Amino acid sequence: MEKWILIILVLMPGVWSGNWGVSLENQCALKGSSVVVKCEYDYPFGNFVTSVKWSKAQFVSGKWSLISVSKLSSTPDHFNYIGNHRGDCKLKVNNVQSVDEGAYFFSFVTTLNKWRSKRYAYLTVKELTAVVQPSNVTEGDTVRLTCSPGCPGFTEFIWFKDGRRVWRTSFQVSREDAGRYYCAVLGQEVTSAPVVLTVRYAPKAVTLTASPSGPVIKGSTVTLTCGSDANPPVTQSGYSLYKGGEFISSGQNHIIPDIQPSESGWYHCRAGNGISWGGSDLKNSSEIHLDVLYGPTNVSVSVYPHHIVEGSSVNLTCSGAANPAADNYTWFKRTGVPGSSSMVQVGSGQVLSLPSIEASHRGLYMCHVGNRLGENNSTEVMLAVVEEPNGSQPLPLLAGVGVSLFVLLGIALLLFWKKKRYRAEKEVSP
Ligand SMILES: *[C@@H]1O[C@H](CO)[C@@H](O)[C@H](O)[C@H]1NC(C)=O
Ligand SMILES: *[C@@H]1O[C@H](CO)[C@@H](O)[C@H](O)[C@H]1NC(C)=O
Ligand SMILES: *[C@@H]1O[C@H](CO)[C@@H](O)[C@H](O)[C@H]1NC(C)=O
Ligand SMILES: *[C@@H]1O[C@H](CO)[C@@H](O)[C@H](O)[C@H]1NC(C)=O
Ligand SMILES: *[C@@H]1O[C@H](CO)[C@@H](O)[C@H](O)[C@H]1NC(C)=O
Ligand SMILES: *[C@@H]1O[C@H](CO)[C@@H](O)[C@H](O)[C@H]1NC(C)=O
Ligand SMILES: *[C@@H]1O[C@H](CO)[C@@H](O)[C@H](O)[C@H]1NC(C)=O
Repeated sequence: MEKWILIILVLMPGVWSGNWGVSLENQCALKGSSVVVKCEYDYPFGNFVTSVKWSKAQFVSGKWSLISVSKLSSTPDHFNYIGNHRGDCKLKVNNVQSVDEGAYFFSFVTTLNKWRSKRYAYLTVKELTAVVQPSNVTEGDTVRLTCSPGCPGFTEFIWFKDGRRVWRTSFQVSREDAGRYYCAVLGQEVTSAPVVLTVRYAPKAVTLTASPSGPVIKGSTVTLTCGSDANPPVTQSGYSLYKGGEFISSGQNHIIPDIQPSESGWYHCRAGNGISWGGSDLKNSSEIHLDVLYGPTNVSVSVYPHHIVEGSSVNLTCSGAANPAADNYTWFKRTGVPGSSSMVQVGSGQVLSLPSIEASHRGLYMCHVGNRLGENNSTEVMLAVVEEPNGSQPLPLLAGVGVSLFVLLGIALLLFWKKKRYRAEKEVSP
């Protein structure tokens, strides 16, 4: 087949001039692409090409020399002769690299002669460069993407961000647009080096977490931590903690050792990194509730009504602080004589109702309260009962008044009796 083509070419005068010659064209190639170095050659009739060779000018051991391309690359097919025996001497270079830049010479040997071109094709290697401008922005700024090839003739580019196609080349950035951008020549496998787009943004997703989470037992240690997603990240002094809307401390972590019931409540934190968003520099977390559990304390008994008379009805109410609320109330009354007295259970429930007071109800009462965290006792309270149904004074006072009256009456009677006797004596003596 090749022989036939040669014969046809030989028989076609005018197609080739029949002079010795090689014509070459300089090339610009993008790193990573494949390029064809254009080349045409001719020789007089009667010659037949026996071999062709491409060489590259290399600076070796202090001088320039021509090295055959077949000796230049370890990769087979990096240089690929795609010409023929007459006319076409094109060289294809696959996956062009920076080292491929340089001057390329073509030479050939015929049955009668050798020919080497004095001119060369210069291969320029350029990189595809992605430009993201500006590449360090604040959310809301506009960014432009430009792909610059370095070689003429490339006009259509496509963009990728972290491997995904990007369709806009000019846009207002949001925080999600941050990433690595690179461009490629449409239809070719050449890509630029990536460029990082940094987007600065105000804190979002500000959260306050308590460790341990959920209700905590009085005396334990709780750590409150404020977190956020922001760029640049929020610094220690950019965080602040609030309880019930009141500032408590700044910093990302707040440790409460030996937590007390008074530290129960609603907490939230704020974060800021100096970037304003929606007119505000600081963003609040949602509120979390800190629930401190403790056994009953401050247990006391109240008596109603205060003035108790025999036959009336009285309520003793037990109250105290406890979390969770106390669920076990037991009433005790002290019996026996001081020194060998004991407590006797007289009821249960928060209110001890004594519907009809008798003298025997008189005495010291105490309530015992429990929840799942503990138990405690109230102090003992004295229940005093007035015996006079119409009396309205507490017993000791009434008793005092009674004794005084009795004594006065006694003195009056004594005086009356003495006076009577004196009179009688007088009546007798005369
Ligand atoms: C981006 O710009 C800010 C100020 O404009 C600067 O503080 C920061 O270091 C820059 N970041 C980068 C990655 O260049
Ligand atoms: C954020 O918290 C602060 C401090 O409690 C409060 O003054 C402010 O109103 C809160 N802002 C918003 C938007 O809730
Ligand atoms: C009982 O209550 C008192 C104060 O009301 C408190 O000081 C004490 O610790 C409590 N005892 C227990 C066992 O909780
Ligand atoms: C118990 O009473 C004291 C003194 O009145 C008070 O400071 C404390 O907060 C009370 N404890 C609880 C748990 O209510
Ligand atoms: C005592 O409490 C009961 C309910 O627990 C109520 O019906 C009654 O009226 C109370 N009595 C007094 C004297 O407050
Ligand atoms: C309530 O307290 C009393 C007295 O301490 C105890 O005997 C009883 O078991 C408790 N009941 C419950 C349900 O905890
Ligand atoms: C409460 O009083 C009872 C009876 O006096 C006693 O046995 C118990 O130890 C007391 N409990 C507390 C917590 O003080």
